[in-house]
Parts: sequence; C-alpha cells; structure tokens
Amino acid sequence: MKIIHNIKDLRQEMSSWRKEGLSIGFVPTMGYLHEGHGYLVKRASSENDRVVVSIFVNPIQFGPSEDFEKYPRDMEMDSRTVEACGGHVIFNPSAEEMYPSGFSTHVDVSGLTEGLCGAKRPGHFRGVCTVVSKLFNIVQPDRAYFGEKDAQQLAVIKRMVRDLNMPIEIVPCPIIREEDGLAKSSRNTYLNPEERRAALVLNRSLTAAINLMENGEINSSSIKARIEGIIKAEPLARIDYIEIIDSVTLNSIGEVKGSVLVAIAVYIGKTRLIDNFTFSGGDR
Ligand code: PAJ
Repeated sequence: MKIIHNIKDLRQEMSSWRKEGLSIGFVPTMGYLHEGHGYLVKRASSENDRVVVSIFVNPIQFGPSEDFEKYPRDMEMDSRTVEACGGHVIFNPSAEEMYPSGFSTHVDVSGLTEGLCGAKRPGHFRGVCTVVSKLFNIVQPDRAYFGEKDAQQLAVIKRMVRDLNMPIEIVPCPIIREEDGLAKSSRNTYLNPEERRAALVLNRSLTAAINLMENGEINSSSIKARIEGIIKAEPLARIDYIEIIDSVTLNSIGEVKGSVLVAIAVYIGKTRLIDNFTFSGGDR
C-alpha cells in the first residue's frame, strides 16, 4: 500500500491503473478511521480492482467555532486500517495542495442542503461538495462509497453527481455501530466515560421511534415527541434537531408515507453526534 501526498503523483498512479483496464473504487474520509470507514474500504475492495482512500481533514467544511483544529488525526493507525481492509493507495494531501492561494471555485447544491445539518452548519455542505468534486476529478473513480450515517451528505452527493453528470456510481453503505448501538464516529473519542454512556440516548430514542412506526404510528409529531421525551430525560444531552423527512427530497412530512428518514443531531456535552434510520412506510 502506498501513501501519496500530491495530486500529480496520484494522477500518475491512476492513469497507469486505467491503462491496465483496472476499475477504481474510492472512499473519501477525514481519517481517524474506525470500522464504519473499514466497511466502506472492504466493500470497495470487493467491488473494484483497486481502492483509493483519501484522508483529508477538509478545512472549508468546518465552521469557525467547530472542531477543525482538534479533529483527531493518526496516520499510522489509519494506514494499518486501510491496508488491512484491502486499500491500495491513501491520498493524503496538504491543505495547500488542495487549496492553493487564489482558490475561488465552490460547488453549491441548493434545496437539499437547507435543512438538518445544512441549517445548523452554514457552509458545511458547500465545503463537502467542493472537496468531493475536487477529489472525484483527481481520482476519477468508477465507484465512490459513502455511509448512510451521514444521510444528508449522501443525498447531497448523489444529487451533485446527477446534476453535474459525473460518471461515478455512488454506493451507499449501512451504518456500522458499537455493540451497544452507538453509531461509530471519529468524534466519539471526544466523549468522557459519562458522556459515552449518555450518548446511547441517540440509538435508544431512534429504536423507540422504530417501534412506534412498526406498530402503525404515522403521525410525525407523535414520533418526534417520543424521541424528544427520551432525549430530554438524559441530563447530558441537548437536542440540535429531530427531523422526520422524505428520504429523497429531504422535505418535512406530516405523516409517514413511502421511504421516510428519521434523523437526529444531539449534543452530548460539547460533542455533536448524529444518527438516523430509514423506514419504509408503504403507501398507507
Ligand atoms: P468522515 O466523517 O471521515 O466519513 C467518511 C465516510 O465514512 C462518510 O461517507 C461517512 O458517512 C462514513 N461513515 C462514518 N461513520 C460511519 C459509520 N458508523 N457507519 C458507516 N459509515 C460511516 O464524511 C466525511 O468524512 C467528509 O464529509 C468527506 C465526505 C470525507 C468530505 O470531506
């Protein structure tokens, strides 16, 4: 496995693979890899001849008061993980390599980015879409792998690829969880033991919502109220949002119908965590 830091060297490697007729799978990440990322890399390696994993903590997707500086980084651990999961190249550019002085082009997906994390983190998806477009242009993969953990990001990237005619298949991958149900996240490392226990409230509230919906509840307000009640009972938790939306348009819905995304963002102490599930309610 190789670690490549600059764009020119990566392009060279990609073009030699392409000349050999090899298919390329791509997994964009910000590093500090866990089994959620590992799943994406393994999946990419089972479906492609070669796999590139990018590790780049993208400064332009963090707000001024967010955790860019303290975001965890560990290249040694990450390279072991990528190798063990079947990756061939890590692309690890510097911020200067990606954003040289005078950089002034951005990619904006409207509509889908207005609610949920887009509303709470202004400019976040502009930063994500810009970096992912650049990475897609640099790697030119056949397939790119994204986790359903970041459901809005996945919907936004799918729309960007469709709207801008990027010849890349976007492959959604399931949320990988800890044994006790907490969705794996690089940000879980911020939690102290008490907060780690409190963080279970995300999965617990979503599980209660699934139960309600499976028992026929279709009223979004009742489902939201159930989630809210459970989260508010946890003193270390503070709700950022609870949304029940159409899983494709991301528009709010009053009643469960078709494919519905239930998405939540919750602060546990100072750490903001997200989780979600998709429920197929049929056409009741
Ligand atoms: P990052 O948070 O490192 O996540 C990289 C990919 O791993 C994303 O597609 C994310 O959805 C997926 N992922 C994270 N936790 C997961 C879990 N528990 N189960 C399944 N998949 C999981 O998302 C980003 O980085 C950045 O925004 C990026 C797309 C790289 C652009 O900078």
